[in-house]
Amino acid sequence: MSKKRIAVVMVMGMVVISGLGMGGWMYHEQLQMTGVAWAMDWSPAMDCSGCHSGQVASQKDKKLLSNVHAEKGVTCLDCHEKNAMETQHKAALAGAPVTKLKMDKKTCFNCHIAKNKHANYEDVAKLTADFGEHFNPHDAHVGRLECRACHHMHKESQNKCSECHTGRTWPWKRVP
Ligand code: HEC
Ligand code: HEC
Ligand code: HEC
Ligand code: HEC
Ligand code: HEC
Repeated sequence: MSKKRIAVVMVMGMVVISGLGMGGWMYHEQLQMTGVAWAMDWSPAMDCSGCHSGQVASQKDKKLLSNVHAEKGVTCLDCHEKNAMETQHKAALAGAPVTKLKMDKKTCFNCHIAKNKHANYEDVAKLTADFGEHFNPHDAHVGRLECRACHHMHKESQNKCSECHTGRTWPWKRVP
């Protein structure tokens, strides 16, 4: 049994236990054995907190960007596209190895374009022009990094620049 397989079985074990413990949880009824791993249907209507309590809790944490979005009514599935989620969960819950999430900057632009705000990298760079020509985090010598290299949702953001320029700090005051 691979480590990932074991982890999935453990996740599913926890689901079964909490499912038996809480009246509202009917998921265990949908569970069925397929070989060594549990398989179940996933639906976008499910309560995400059953399996992703950390990410759901992040919506209330003012130190996290997830909170900024939740306060404006942005839901989990606004960022994590429904159809992709369906495919991924079917595979994950059947015990397949899970690829680590790598959210493309297109997803970020998608939404911010609709709002006609920071529509592309040039526009984003304008927002932080006050950092100065060479120190603008959105327009520096490292090129156009994926947004998630610095801005995280469910954990504290990090500044990639400081990884190499250890003696320097960049302000991080306006957004979490
Ligand atoms: C029955 C448990 C269960 C429920 C309910 C559930 N998920 Fe998941 N989810 C998983 C498992 C298992 C994985 C794969 C392991 C991991 O990445 O944690 C996963 C992975 C993910 C990932 C990461 C995918 C990747 O590429 O790394 C996202 C995003 C996600 N779920 C979103 C959601 C959202 C949004 C909901 C609510 C609509 C939800 N999940 C409900 C079990 C669940
Ligand atoms: C504004 C966009 C956005 C929203 C809203 C959002 N996420 Fe995420 N999510 C991300 C990004 C970006 C990542 C990649 C990891 C990172 O950089 O924090 C991620 C990663 C994840 C992962 C993979 C594990 C991890 O933490 O890296 C899971 C599971 C997940 N999200 C579930 C959820 C659930 C459940 C909700 C609703 C409570 C939600 N997300 C809301 C953008 C979002
Ligand atoms: C479904 C729409 C949606 C998606 C997708 C989305 N955002 Fe946002 N984002 C918002 C909204 C709404 C706000 C609240 C601020 C506002 O009203 O402009 C916001 C605020 C922010 C802020 C705080 C600064 C500000 O303008 O207030 C940052 C930083 C941010 N988003 C980065 C990201 C990144 C990085 C991603 C991709 C991982 C992303 N967003 C994906 C809708 C979205
Ligand atoms: C090299 C790290 C890094 C990358 C990559 C990055 N950002 Fe930023 N971003 C920052 C820093 C640093 C700030 C300023 C934080 C502060 O002052 O609180 C910021 C601020 C912002 C703001 C708020 C600007 C304001 O003050 O109104 C938005 C919106 C934003 N980023 C969006 C994005 C988007 C969208 C992407 C991807 C296209 C992205 N960022 C990529 C580091 C980064
Ligand atoms: C992979 C490592 C790495 C990362 C990440 C990185 N730099 Fe650099 N940077 C360097 C190196 C190496 C030099 C050239 C040697 C020097 O002058 O320190 C340099 C030089 C610079 C210079 C000109 C010299 C100086 O110190 O005034 C500026 C400005 C700068 N980087 C800004 C940034 C900003 C802003 C970021 C984040 C968006 C960033 N760097 C991220 C490695 C990095």
